[in-house]
Amino acid sequence: MDMKKNDLPYIDEAKLQYDYIEKAKQYVKAESERLGRPLFASVITFGCQMNARDSEKLAGILEQTGYRLTDSEEDADFVIYNTCTVRDNANQRVYGRLGHLNSLKKKKPHLKIALCGCMMQEQSVIEKIRKSYRFVDLIFGTHNLFKFAQLLVTMFDNAFVEDSSENIPQKSVRGSMVIDIWKETDRIVEDLPVSRKYSYKSGINIMFGCNNFCSYCIVPYVRGRERSREPKEILREIELLAADGVVEIMLLGQNVNSYGRNLENPISFAQLLREVEQIDGIRRIRFMTSHPKDFSDELIQVMKESSKICHHLHLPLQSGSNRILRKMNRRYTKEQYLELVRKLREAIPDIAITTDIIVGFPGETMEDVEETIDVVKQAAYDNAFTFIYSKRTGTPAAAMEDQVPEELVHPAFDKLLKVVQETAKERALLLKGKVMEALVEERNEQDASLVTGRLSNNMLVHFPGDVSDIGKLMMVSLDECHGFYYTGRRIEKKR
Ligand code: SAH
Ligand code: SF4
Ligand code: F3S
Repeated sequence: MDMKKNDLPYIDEAKLQYDYIEKAKQYVKAESERLGRPLFASVITFGCQMNARDSEKLAGILEQTGYRLTDSEEDADFVIYNTCTVRDNANQRVYGRLGHLNSLKKKKPHLKIALCGCMMQEQSVIEKIRKSYRFVDLIFGTHNLFKFAQLLVTMFDNAFVEDSSENIPQKSVRGSMVIDIWKETDRIVEDLPVSRKYSYKSGINIMFGCNNFCSYCIVPYVRGRERSREPKEILREIELLAADGVVEIMLLGQNVNSYGRNLENPISFAQLLREVEQIDGIRRIRFMTSHPKDFSDELIQVMKESSKICHHLHLPLQSGSNRILRKMNRRYTKEQYLELVRKLREAIPDIAITTDIIVGFPGETMEDVEETIDVVKQAAYDNAFTFIYSKRTGTPAAAMEDQVPEELVHPAFDKLLKVVQETAKERALLLKGKVMEALVEERNEQDASLVTGRLSNNMLVHFPGDVSDIGKLMMVSLDECHGFYYTGRRIEKKR
């Protein structure tokens, strides 16, 4: 847990939620006594880093109510899917897995199932679940995640019949689905419990929502308008994390470059970074995601001067064709993008740049894709996530006339992917023989004598070590390049 209840008793909403945690505890205790064993909950995350961080908040509340956490759905008494809807295949995965959960629930009737996250902010999804997935117990969205404890209590109230003799919930019955979706909120509730997945690194929300309305993207509709957290709240959270052993942080927002503009006392993202840099104990700083249109020279300067900001930048391109970029409402040109990359490389020569690219946007031709390939070559990406355009109902692009049938997208997609892979390989090879600092993240899954470390530039390196190395920074020589990762040796020189 990051924060104690008593840190900030004056925050009313958080206080209210702590009262609900106490109530939920009673239910969990009663159910656990009925079963004669502890209760297990499993939070499954789909989608991006924001969802991963939200899941840590859900897990924090679950732990406080008495649940033990497990990665295994099969072992769980309560399964929570934190969903994503950025592309249709994200939705399809959830529906597929729900089928499996239904069969689990038939074997284990007390199993509780909750759905939350971005996909739940869509009306059509809610209707479908109401109709065809009636075994789901609780649905909530992205805006009211902070009242998860309260929703748990409502769910339990619904599902249990009170035994009046002992006045504790006893009998489990199939109750009705609890649905609570908010359209929007301007609220940011601070100081709820968090259960971190990693001891040594953590994401931190610096803002929520998005105002950019890229024409293909559903995020602004499901995450609402852009809201920045107060810098002092962010800094306080990071200080607490540092005190708890966190050495690497990732500042999270859909467009971190516009952070702070709408605060009462506006502050730029670059200024925030300067303050984060001062926090003792934090050794590495990352951030996600940067929109190229808002990338300031001040930010480049701060990155250059910093000894903590990692030499990796995720800078989504989406398309290299000016015509398509305009239709996407990205508000930069190919030339402006490449100029930004040039400035970044000039300031920080060893920076690794990664990107996101969409292929098959309405009206896109092979000529447009060639423009994108040209940017991939010029920008020399260390990696690129390539996506086939997915039509999202309600977005402007979904209403555009010239939708490209998916089978026509594949040849262009494959061609682009090949260039991306070649470029990435060339970039990776440049590191061969170097000695660099790695943060040890975990034991290697395939070979238990190895650990996996991450370099500042996001490259992974496997080298001999053991679990006691996890969370430590160490110098490693990069001996063999295997495309997307290295194998190497530890060099005795701890920083
Ligand atoms: N806020 C981030 C991106 C969040 S979504 C940004 O602006 O960079 C992550 C990625 O999903 C996007 O960068 C984009 O490449 C991809 N994406 C978003 N909507 C999509 C859609 N409708 N079809 C295919 N890919 C999409
Ligand atoms: Fe979507 Fe664009 Fe906002 Fe990113 S910046 S979340 S792509 S609308
Ligand atoms: Fe998906 Fe929501 Fe993130 S739609 S990409 S989980 S903001």
